[in-house]
Amino acid sequence: MALNSPEARDLAHHLHSFTHLPSLERDGPLVLERGEGIYVRDTHGKRYLESVSGLWNVVAGFSEPRLVQAAHAAMSAMPAYHTFFGRTALTPITLAEKLVEIAPMEVAKVYFVNSGSEANDTAIKMLWMMGIGAGAPERRTLVSRSMAYHGTTVAACSLNGKPYIGAFGLPLPEVRYVEAPHYWRNAHPGESEAAYVDRLAGELEALIEAEGAETIAGFFAEPVMGAGGAVPPPAGYFPRIQAILNRYGIPLVADEVVTGLGRTGNLWGAETYGFVPDILVTSKALTSGYYPMAAVLLSPEMDRRLRHAADAYDEFPHGFTTGGSPVAAAVALETIALITEPGGLLDNVRAVSPALEAALQEFGDHPLVGEVRCVGLLGALEIVADRAGKRPFDPAHEIGERIVQVAYARGLITRPIGDAVIVAPPFTITEAQIGELMGTLRAVLDEIADTAAREGMGATPVAASAE
Ligand SMILES: Cc1ncc(COP(=O)(O)O)c(C=O)c1O
Repeated sequence: MALNSPEARDLAHHLHSFTHLPSLERDGPLVLERGEGIYVRDTHGKRYLESVSGLWNVVAGFSEPRLVQAAHAAMSAMPAYHTFFGRTALTPITLAEKLVEIAPMEVAKVYFVNSGSEANDTAIKMLWMMGIGAGAPERRTLVSRSMAYHGTTVAACSLNGKPYIGAFGLPLPEVRYVEAPHYWRNAHPGESEAAYVDRLAGELEALIEAEGAETIAGFFAEPVMGAGGAVPPPAGYFPRIQAILNRYGIPLVADEVVTGLGRTGNLWGAETYGFVPDILVTSKALTSGYYPMAAVLLSPEMDRRLRHAADAYDEFPHGFTTGGSPVAAAVALETIALITEPGGLLDNVRAVSPALEAALQEFGDHPLVGEVRCVGLLGALEIVADRAGKRPFDPAHEIGERIVQVAYARGLITRPIGDAVIVAPPFTITEAQIGELMGTLRAVLDEIADTAAREGMGATPVAASAE
């Protein structure tokens, strides 16, 4: 690494998010300078296909001029304003109207923040305030799921069903977890998908009974678990869960930060999986990642309860200086236009996603692949050392880091999460580019399988498996 190179400067002073530090120090960072559609270029001019849209967010690709122009025009007219004290710029009003129009449920109010984490923390504070406002301050318990990811702020991080939250002494005492709905991984031997859903429904109901429904503020769920490994729910899961929550009067918060605005082939994951949220959180695709923004959408009943609770304080005592930024809102409006217009990005997701699914299914007999998952433009290959036993690799082999490095060498940015390789390309991707992505991914996994066999990591080499 050359002295004073961007890589060396990065290592010296820049602390990275969710980065395996020994690998970073050994391999160095990847420093990106330009974007071209679904591709990005590093500072040495090397081009990479970005198979996960950055962090699932850059749905319009990395060089969409309409978003640049929208940001430029908004910044020239009114570069910054807040939404405190009854003030606002114009574009957040229009964006709220647009989200009400396209939401998968009846929506009364829209609240803007800067990130998915802030949106989930905001939803939690709203639910807690509703309980206090209704004279039920004990209504504080938050139900989440193992493997869930809802963000990094204190309350959202507490909902993450992941061991690392212990690093912060979390979760908060209010949080309970039910099982992640991952049929392939968690079903009992011989259990049908329907029986598995019955069991999950029973688990939720038992938890509600044990805790007391009157103590539960809300149930948080991603329609497809994103950072849990791109795991779609088993058939019938959400209608069953929703029926139970409705019976006990517990609000359902749909965290559509990954699934919202087209990723699953419909505008909302709630549409794909047949349920109606009480609160919906959207971010990522909302601005295609070009500007920070997230939104919390409230049903009329949630709005009524919040309004009632706020009356005691004459306000909703919450807010972020840059939440409701006029530039973010303008970028979001243009992104939504790109997604929803005829022949736009949602139409393209629908047109090309069968090709993605077919290409992923071709990995079904690869020696490293235990399960293939796909909905819309969201797919995953579950990597295993042993297909029959569904046995993951020993973490000491750092199989995820190996996949990342081999993929870099072949001009592909990919994202292993735990034991799954995620595929979530920009919505602009063409069928030819899907072919390119999948061809490279196959070469990467073949190389890893051969290395794993050679180094005795417990996997079968590709040639042997093909016999
Ligand atoms: C489902 C889900 N919720 C919330 C978040 C947090 O969003 P942010 O990183 O914008 O705070 C993420 C981020 O990946 C996410 O995937």
